[in-house]
Amino acid sequence: MGTENEIVVEAWNTVLFDKFTRFKHLLIQGLSAHSDAVLAQHPYPAGARVLDVGCGFGDSTRLIARRVGSAGEAVGVDCASNFIAAAQRDTSAEGLANASFFVADVQTEDLRGPYDFAFSRFGTMFFMNPGAALRNVRRALEPGAELTMVVWRRREDNPWLHDAELRVKEIVPVVSHEETDQVHCGPGPFSMSGPDLVSSMLKGQGYDRISFSRFDADICIGRDVAEAIEFAMALGPAGEVMRLAGAEGQRLKPKVVEALSETLSRYDRGDGVWAPSSTWFVSARNP
Ligand SMILES: C[S@@+](CC[C@H](N)C(=O)[O-])C[C@H]1O[C@@H](n2cnc3c(N)ncnc32)[C@H](O)[C@@H]1O
Repeated sequence: MGTENEIVVEAWNTVLFDKFTRFKHLLIQGLSAHSDAVLAQHPYPAGARVLDVGCGFGDSTRLIARRVGSAGEAVGVDCASNFIAAAQRDTSAEGLANASFFVADVQTEDLRGPYDFAFSRFGTMFFMNPGAALRNVRRALEPGAELTMVVWRRREDNPWLHDAELRVKEIVPVVSHEETDQVHCGPGPFSMSGPDLVSSMLKGQGYDRISFSRFDADICIGRDVAEAIEFAMALGPAGEVMRLAGAEGQRLKPKVVEALSETLSRYDRGDGVWAPSSTWFVSARNP
């Protein structure tokens, strides 16, 4: 296996890409609750050129492309070629000419700037070297241009992920990344949940006018409890515990399903399973 960074890129291009594809309908709807709100707070003007960092399937890139109009451009970048291929396919199907995509590691590669804005919806928390990535993004921005990123707040305010993590850890032995030869997602969804740490990191990489604003929304984690259980066992920290536990995780699955059913049923509203989620909208300027 390659370097730690190559392992993370491999994870996003394989197991995580497959899981994101399986639950694309839930992820895009749930994550869009946060990006729709941040784009309403930080509207991009017509004609702007915007970079979407860690764009995944590129739905946010396409949304930005429609907002900036034909005189503007939205450019999605992701380290996983499978995500970029899916983004390009969906964009061609829509016939959207001002959204484009390329594969690159945001930490080290040329980001094809300059841009008037950089945006990221949950695309910055998985870097092995977040400082290098944030510096590289800043260098791709015009002077005075703003980076806006959406990151998860603390796990206690994100029971959509954390409740399942607690229940799974009661049952399944936790195997650390160091103990396995399996790929992994990098630092994880809560690595940018602390404003002190993130603001120091941004400041250290040359940004100014750093601000944080909290946003809360209930998001749909399953059309019914059975789907919410499958979703929880596949993604996020609970999904990682299940996957890294391998055969032992599979053996304990019936117990996990029982525990998750009990926990997730309380979010069942009849029209789906809706659990609270909470993010920071972080903005910072390239001076
Ligand atoms: C949680 S997903 C978010 C995807 C998308 N922004 C969304 O909201 O649906 C994180 C994304 O960051 C990408 N990513 C992780 N490390 C990266 C790196 N070093 N360079 C570029 N992209 C990276 C992953 O491939 C993945 O698509």
